[in-house]
Amino acid sequence: MDPKAEPPILVIYAHPRPRLSRVNQPLASALRALPAVTVHDLYARYTDYDIDVVEEQRALARAATLVLQFPVQWYSVPALLKLWMDEVLESGWAYGPGGTALRGKSMLVAASTGGHADSYGPDGTHGHGIDEYMLPLAQTAVLCGMNWLAPLVLHDANQVDKDALAGHIARVSGVLGAAGVATD
Ligand SMILES: Cc1cc2nc3c(=O)[nH]c(=O)nc-3n(C[C@H](O)[C@H](O)[C@H](O)COP(=O)(O)O)c2cc1C
Repeated sequence: MDPKAEPPILVIYAHPRPRLSRVNQPLASALRALPAVTVHDLYARYTDYDIDVVEEQRALARAATLVLQFPVQWYSVPALLKLWMDEVLESGWAYGPGGTALRGKSMLVAASTGGHADSYGPDGTHGHGIDEYMLPLAQTAVLCGMNWLAPLVLHDANQVDKDALAGHIARVSGVLGAAGVATD
C-alpha cells in the first residue's frame, strides 16, 4: 500500500449540539476537506455512545497526529470525547506495560470557549489560564509518549465577528496543512 495514501492526521471532533455551532461545525467541515485529514465526528458516529474501540484504535494507529476538536464545556471536553478517551486509550495499548501504540505521535487541541481571553487568567472570571484547563489532556499525551503541541483556542466564540471565525478556521487549517505538524 502506498504510505502517502494514508491520512496522517486524525481529527476527533466532539460537539453535542452541532446545529447550534458557529465555530466547530464549520471548522470540522473545513478540516475534512484537507487532503491529509480524516475527521471522526463522535456525536454523529456514536449517537448511542457505543464507541467502536477497535476501529478508533485502528484509525489512531494510522495517524501521525491526533487532533482533539471541541467546544470547552465546564472547563473540560464534551462527555462523548471523555468517553472516547476512557475507552480508546486503553492500558496495554496507549500506555502502561506494552502500551506503545501512540508513542512518537503528536496531539493537538483545537478548542473554543465562550469566555473572553481576558476572563482566562488569575484576575479573570475563570481564575486560571486556558493552558491550565488543558493540563489533563497535556498529561494524557505525555503518559502516552506523545508530543503535546500548543493548543489552538478561539475565545469569545459566541461573540467574535465573521472575520475572527474565518481567521480561526484558517489558522487551524494552516497548522494542519503545514508539513511540520505531522511528526513521526
Ligand atoms: C454545557 C456548556 C458548558 C460550557 N462551559 C464553558 C466553559 O467552561 N468555559 C467557557 O469559556 N465556555 C463554556 N461554554 C461555551 C462554549 O464553549 C461555547 O459556546 C462554544 O465554544 C462555541 O462553539 P460553537 O460555536 O462551535 O458551539 C459552555 C457551553 C455549554 C453549552
